[in-house]
Amino acid sequence: MHFNYSLVAGALSILQYLPKAVTASVSNTTWDYIVVGGGASGIPLADKLSESGKTVLLLERGFASSYRWGGKLRPQWLEGSNLTRFDVPALYQYILENPADAAAANILCSDYVATASCVLGGGTAINAGLWWKPGSADWDTIMPIGWNSADMRAATEEVFARLPGTDIPSSDGKLYLQKGAEILKKALTSAEPPYEFQKANDSPDAKDGTVSNAEHFFMHGERGGVMETFLVSASKRANFKLQLETTVTRVIRQGKQITGVEVETPEGSGTINVTPNTGKVILSAGVFGTSKILFRSGIGPKDQLSLLKASPDGVNMVVEAEWIDLAVGHNLDDNPSIYGIIIALDVETYDYVGAFNTPVPEDAAKYLANRSGPLAQIEPPLNPFWWDIVTGTDGIARAIQWSAISGQLNDTTGMVLTASLGRGKTSRGRLGLSLDPSTPLTINVTQVPYFNDATGADFAAVVSSLENVLKIARAIPNATIVLPPEGQDVAEYLRADFPPSMALNSNHWVGSTKMRRRCGKGVVVDGETRVCGVEGLHVVDAGIVGGVPAANPQAVFVAVAVRAGEKILKLDGGHEW
Ligand SMILES: Cc1cc2nc3c(=O)[nH]c(=O)nc-3n(C[C@H](O)[C@H](O)[C@H](O)COP(=O)(O)OP(=O)(O)OC[C@H]3O[C@@H](n4cnc5c(N)ncnc54)[C@H](O)[C@@H]3O)c2cc1C
Ligand SMILES: *[C@@H]1O[C@H](CO)[C@@H](O)[C@H](O)[C@H]1NC(C)=O
Ligand SMILES: *[C@@H]1O[C@H](CO)[C@@H](O)[C@H](O)[C@H]1NC(C)=O
Ligand SMILES: *[C@@H]1O[C@H](CO)[C@@H](O)[C@H](O)[C@H]1NC(C)=O
Ligand SMILES: *[C@@H]1O[C@H](CO)[C@@H](O)[C@H](O)[C@H]1NC(C)=O
Ligand SMILES: *[C@@H]1O[C@H](CO)[C@@H](O)[C@H](O)[C@H]1NC(C)=O
Ligand SMILES: *[C@@H]1O[C@H](CO)[C@@H](O)[C@H](O)[C@H]1NC(C)=O
Repeated sequence: MHFNYSLVAGALSILQYLPKAVTASVSNTTWDYIVVGGGASGIPLADKLSESGKTVLLLERGFASSYRWGGKLRPQWLEGSNLTRFDVPALYQYILENPADAAAANILCSDYVATASCVLGGGTAINAGLWWKPGSADWDTIMPIGWNSADMRAATEEVFARLPGTDIPSSDGKLYLQKGAEILKKALTSAEPPYEFQKANDSPDAKDGTVSNAEHFFMHGERGGVMETFLVSASKRANFKLQLETTVTRVIRQGKQITGVEVETPEGSGTINVTPNTGKVILSAGVFGTSKILFRSGIGPKDQLSLLKASPDGVNMVVEAEWIDLAVGHNLDDNPSIYGIIIALDVETYDYVGAFNTPVPEDAAKYLANRSGPLAQIEPPLNPFWWDIVTGTDGIARAIQWSAISGQLNDTTGMVLTASLGRGKTSRGRLGLSLDPSTPLTINVTQVPYFNDATGADFAAVVSSLENVLKIARAIPNATIVLPPEGQDVAEYLRADFPPSMALNSNHWVGSTKMRRRCGKGVVVDGETRVCGVEGLHVVDAGIVGGVPAANPQAVFVAVAVRAGEKILKLDGGHEW
């Protein structure tokens, strides 16, 4: 909270860039592993590493979110319960509708242009909790040798055994507000050819012509997720420590050897060291956070390091002779999301935003007493999900995920159907430092990864899937198509209304620290997650996943973290896995 480089509020002070006397050691303990970032990846990684008995310090920049970890933030109606705003699934929507409030409360990271969470749990503390078991084609398409489906099977099963998730979030076993979802499921399963209804996590490979209810990592009507599973088991071990409100600014290295991290805490700044020679720092700060730490540590492309050197923070960088030239920030990927079809239809509405401060009294009572009812679900009913595979003229099969929400339109009720292009897409973008001198430490998406592929096959896949779904929507009894406009060519409509821009982003950023089996051109980490050209530094987060999977990605990151933990322990002489 203390270290808020909030540029939005114009709070930038030059003082924070002055060279600091980083002499004080904030801790005299050294650690076998320092994991930086307590999010979707850092939490399961720290848990796995701590299973070995080696000492593990998990550093998280944000404050406690869930009540379980000391979280305090909550609306009045949760007073007296063991819940915060982060624990109640339905309160998710409020963050999206009130980003300024979430930024002011330091929930969102104010130093990235994209939306990301900077509290304990990272994205898992604030996201929609969608939790899809990755299929074989996901691993085989987006991961390098050593991380394919056969390699990932055990880690994936381990993750889903510990955190199975649910397609019925409410504890009474009922789904609420499903009128729109039922109409759509009926339309999809009776279309020609019909979509097949499946429970997606029972058949993770079925992502072509299938429809499923939403799957979430929620538990007993609460958010649950990695904070209620992997963090609980890690915290029971004496060799594990979680330290909150601690921002890692850079890694410290002597030449190529990492010795520790430089941190800023509410008590001041200093260093925390790893065990000499054998200790390791693992960056799990998310695509933006990890890239920022790497840049500030003199690791990254020359253009970014030069930009930083010329900024007020440049005085804190290692000398240019020690810079390590790696393609950090390239190969960025994310799903473009297209809210392309709007249908006016008689469906239920629910005020999920109003529910933050003034929930419907009966629904609040039901939730508080039994963790049941609409407040155990997220946002206006977000259901169902369905998938198409479209093979392009380039021969590549692309997955399109569709989702639907029901609720109030302008002057009627209806549903918004969203297409999200995933696995197989070939467009890529880039992240880097802001070029604006007034925001020198802000990480930006400098090139969006949408519809810039050479053949245009990414765009063609969306057009084809949208035409198919539009045909199905038109056949729904009593439905009126609001968008696309009647008679307009679908491709023209998409080009005009959904041009490539940040407005299409899905918050599913991956790929910015490219992993390959061996180091080489364009590669940032090797197949053992080691940063190329550095000793004792790893990256384990969404950045090492090479592209977006077929469905919302976070289970991929959790399974990758578990597998990475096994690989790192093995490098350090642990037993064979
Ligand atoms: C609004 C929203 C909704 C989403 N919905 C879904 C969904 O329903 N399903 C799904 O699969 N995915 C969803 N996602 C995406 C998913 O949450 C992210 O892809 C995932 O959390 C990324 O995992 P990560 O471990 O790479 O990073 P994160 O989970 O972002 O974790 C990074 C952690 O590092 C910390 N950190 C950053 N910098 C530092 C530093 N310098 N020092 C110390 N700590 C630091 C951060 O505070 C954070 O806790 C959503 C994302 C958003 C933003
Ligand atoms: C670390 O050790 C030094 C020297 O013994 C001591 O002065 C300092 O107070 C210690 N710091 C902490 C945080 O314990
Ligand atoms: C709140 O208490 C219930 C009942 O004991 C428990 O199941 C749940 O995990 C707790 N939740 C949090 C966030 O502490
Ligand atoms: C909670 O569940 C119990 C048992 O089913 C029921 O009797 C009670 O009315 C419920 N409480 C609320 C507030 O819905
Ligand atoms: C709702 O109204 C706004 C403002 O008039 C308009 O821009 C938008 O297209 C309308 N949306 C729908 C779904 O009709
Ligand atoms: C981020 O990058 C985009 C595209 O290059 C640019 O238009 C925008 O101004 C940048 N924002 C900041 C804050 O640097
Ligand atoms: C369509 O609307 C008419 C008139 O309101 C109604 O009688 C009919 O039942 C509706 N059909 C369906 C399938 O909802």
